[in-house]
Amino acid sequence: MPLRVLGIVGSLRAGSFNRALLRAAVELAPAGMEITIFDGLGAVPLYDEDVEVKGDPAPVAAFKNAIRDAGALLIATPEYNYGVPGVLKNAIDWASRPPGKSVLNGKPAAIMGATPGGTGTARAQLALRQSFVFTDTPTVHRPEVLVARAHEKIDAQGRLTDEPTRQSIRKLLEALVQWETRLRPGAAPA
Ligand SMILES: Cc1cc2nc3c(=O)[nH]c(=O)nc-3n(C[C@H](O)[C@H](O)[C@H](O)COP(=O)(O)O)c2cc1C
Repeated sequence: MPLRVLGIVGSLRAGSFNRALLRAAVELAPAGMEITIFDGLGAVPLYDEDVEVKGDPAPVAAFKNAIRDAGALLIATPEYNYGVPGVLKNAIDWASRPPGKSVLNGKPAAIMGATPGGTGTARAQLALRQSFVFTDTPTVHRPEVLVARAHEKIDAQGRLTDEPTRQSIRKLLEALVQWETRLRPGAAPA
């Protein structure tokens, strides 16, 4: 059975550096891993409990179903004002419902991020990990893929050309395979 990974990018920008990281991950996926990039984040409305009680809007249902159907998540997040962009945080807030029984509970996840700045989205990634404590989403710790000065590593066609960064994404994907295997029900303790 292939490991089906859902790629989620926290940017709606056509030329997004973070989308470029996910496209590179699709190319670098190890044998037995299939990565699909979720395309509907821009259609997810702002979270509103009054709307939620009447039933999830279709884009929210599509997002939750995609998470439910995936064996693991791979999230590429930008950093906005030292935090997670609202587009991504809002979608996670929808997906986190109902608390304790959401599609995020127990779903293995890996995080990476790119910025033209110098800190490689370190603060946004930590903020995302913090939310995943509440949702009980077990997240790969290492390697941390913190892509600083992304404009020097991704070309005008949106291709990640920097070999060390490609290597660290490869290692992250291998770590995600091991992580998912360890977390599988009935897996032998590590
Ligand atoms: C509202 C806003 C806030 C930002 N804050 C940060 C920040 O805190 N740290 C950082 O490294 N870059 C910051 N940036 C720059 C983003 O890293 C940059 O726009 C990046 O290209 C966004 O990711 P994307 O290419 O995937 O769209 C910010 C950009 C915007 C629009």
